[in-house]
Amino acid sequence: MHIYVTGAATTQFGELWGVSPRSLARGSVLSALKDADTEPKTVQALFVGNMLSGMLGGQEHLGAFFAEELGFSVPAFKVEGACASGGLAMHNAVNSLLSGQYETVVVLGIEKMTDHKPEDVATALMGAGSEEERSAGATFPGLYAILARIHMREFGTTEEQMAAVAVKNHYHASLNPNAQFHNILTVEQVMRSSRVADPLKLLDCSPISDGAAAVVLTTRKMKRSIEIASSVVATDTLGLAQRKSLTELAATRMASDKAYKIAGVQAADIDVAEVHDCFTIAQILAMEDLGFCKKGESAKKIHTVINPSGGLKGCGHPVGATGVKQVVELVEHLRGTAGKRQVKGAKVGLAHNVGGSGATAVIHILKK
Ligand code: COA
Repeated sequence: MHIYVTGAATTQFGELWGVSPRSLARGSVLSALKDADTEPKTVQALFVGNMLSGMLGGQEHLGAFFAEELGFSVPAFKVEGACASGGLAMHNAVNSLLSGQYETVVVLGIEKMTDHKPEDVATALMGAGSEEERSAGATFPGLYAILARIHMREFGTTEEQMAAVAVKNHYHASLNPNAQFHNILTVEQVMRSSRVADPLKLLDCSPISDGAAAVVLTTRKMKRSIEIASSVVATDTLGLAQRKSLTELAATRMASDKAYKIAGVQAADIDVAEVHDCFTIAQILAMEDLGFCKKGESAKKIHTVINPSGGLKGCGHPVGATGVKQVVELVEHLRGTAGKRQVKGAKVGLAHNVGGSGATAVIHILKK
């Protein structure tokens, strides 16, 4: 059996003051259904990727909450896996179709973060870390700063090389009307921005964001549908201290190795990839762990175009929405409708969504 994306849409990402989660859900899901040229009544199940609505907004029970809002009287599920919640919701939706239970389902990724105090958001995000990390007062910028320091020591990676990731992703975001940031950066600006967790600076970090993304998945091929050639999840320890190696995110490597095999492709065949650049060092690690380059060689020219949406850094990172937005972006490129961002002739795309500091990794490979 084959699974296809037949409709895909995102809302604007950014600081969306006064916009409710209900309207974000409606905006993205109704646009995705329109894009699929299908009626709401064809939807047989709803999968919602979200991390923080319980902790920050006091609203759990999101499956039924959004099913009611959308007028879907269907089985509905909330899927949580920290910043990989969207990717995990995709994976569960794909499996539900493969099981033969349903023929058409909707995946909604959604997060509303900016209505809350930054310190509350940082504490809630650390719910994805280990008990030791939380009790030590670590934050995600702090944990990725450790990974950055180790990479610098082992491979000679420089702060300027990390800054170049932010510069490139902001450039791509400047071409994306739905991105949070449209300002072009220079390496000097990144280097001069305030230090958040040394060596990571403000402009090495993805922002706090609001946004939603939705896709319609079916077992039937339609005119503009894009095939999901593989959907794979791997996990690792929550805490960095328990890992065998800190020069890689092993879950990314394990999930991508398996995803390439299932899809019958290799890293070199991927024309366009949306990777999880929650911090600039995370994009460098992703490029290595996904096999796009050797360790320490991410600055060299590669075939694959990385993060044309602007990535988490430039497009924004409403955590539960990110994994679904990555798929929406790939669908645009594989259909050839990505406008100014179009990766010419793109035939194979890869989405890489990470939870925590690498405890969950989700890979989707899409084919034209
Ligand atoms: N990239 C670019 N600009 C950013 C930014 C970012 N990551 N974060 C904030 N800004 C901008 C804001 O738009 C604002 O600009 P303005 O003055 O023109 O309006 C300015 O910087 C200050 O914003 P503010 O909201 O006060 O920043 P902050 O200091 O509260 O937060 C971070 C900055 C980096 C600490 C916050 O974005 C953060 O915690 N990011 C990481 C999120 C995270 O951990 N996600 C999970 C990953 S696993």
